[in-house]
Amino acid sequence: MNDSFHDPLGQASDGESVDSSPEGGAETEVGHLPVMVDEVIETLAAKAGSLQIDATLGGAGHAERILEASAPDGRLLGLDADGAAIARGQRRLARFGDRAVLRRANFRELAQVAPEAGFGAADGLFLDLGLSSYQLSDVERGFGFRAGGRLDMRFDTSRGRPAADLLATMDAAELTALFGRLGEEPYAGRISRTIVETRTATPIETAEQLAALVKRAVPAPKTYRIHPATRVFQALRIAVNDELGALDAGLSASLVLLRPGGRLVVLSYHSLEDRIVKRFIASEQRGCVCPPQVPICVCGRQPRLRSLGKSRTPSAAEIHANPRSRSARLRGAERVAA
Ligand SMILES: C[S@@+](CC[C@H](N)C(=O)[O-])C[C@H]1O[C@@H](n2cnc3c(N)ncnc32)[C@H](O)[C@@H]1O
Repeated sequence: MNDSFHDPLGQASDGESVDSSPEGGAETEVGHLPVMVDEVIETLAAKAGSLQIDATLGGAGHAERILEASAPDGRLLGLDADGAAIARGQRRLARFGDRAVLRRANFRELAQVAPEAGFGAADGLFLDLGLSSYQLSDVERGFGFRAGGRLDMRFDTSRGRPAADLLATMDAAELTALFGRLGEEPYAGRISRTIVETRTATPIETAEQLAALVKRAVPAPKTYRIHPATRVFQALRIAVNDELGALDAGLSASLVLLRPGGRLVVLSYHSLEDRIVKRFIASEQRGCVCPPQVPICVCGRQPRLRSLGKSRTPSAAEIHANPRSRSARLRGAERVAA
């Protein structure tokens, strides 16, 4: 199992407290310390006059740096599925005037949304996956173990089904498959059976209830490196937001939206995401998809991306200053002319 599955939310291992620092950033006076920001800026290579897309605006920390790097006239389209992130971004980026264009949208719709906003031929596309500290620390959203509000976990609360609905309706086999596939949870079966038994008497409505249930269902670990419910929470969040499906769509959109020479930069926080990004770049770099036994290419598929080298991880100093950054992995690629 990839170690990045451990404590992806940066929640305290005893489950008694939620880390107040954002995923991918520590709290500062402006609210967020973005992850690997120098590496992101270097890899994006945003220049004056360029068009950049930040498809996961969050606290707008990266967006702010991208706008600074592309001064005086570079423009940025910032998207987030969460309306609260857009409102926050509008305040934080107000000083850039019409250089910053913000839209509430899921990046699975990027191929439609970006051209409509005038970003149909972009020089950079940045994705910083997962959730923000603002979401994690909002007890009404149900992302943290201690959250007392309804177990929701949707980035966009106007669409889709909250996590509590999945827990109320999926059968034990479906829950086991979900926790195993999206959480790599070794006790997926035990946890699922406990959920199904418990919910007949008491509906599982809050994150707090679910965290306590998982802790009861699994054998006590020798050491609490992570809260026993970490993988279950991660699996539910990924399922509720169809995060892997959205990632596939967002990556594909990069091929349509980036100009030749334009750059795709992705920060992921667990192995499922990173594997998708890695395979996407490798496949688009290779071009031809003919089976090895075919002597001459018949598919005619051309490379559309060039990898910008090996993945990068945060420095020891950054991890020390911002423990949430520890599972981050950055990959970049450049669009090449077909
Ligand atoms: C890790 S935070 C981004 C932090 C940001 N880079 C910063 O500097 O503050 C991820 C953000 O992406 C948003 N998000 C996740 N999946 C999304 C999707 N498919 N479409 C749009 N926004 C998404 C979340 O709502 C969250 O606000």
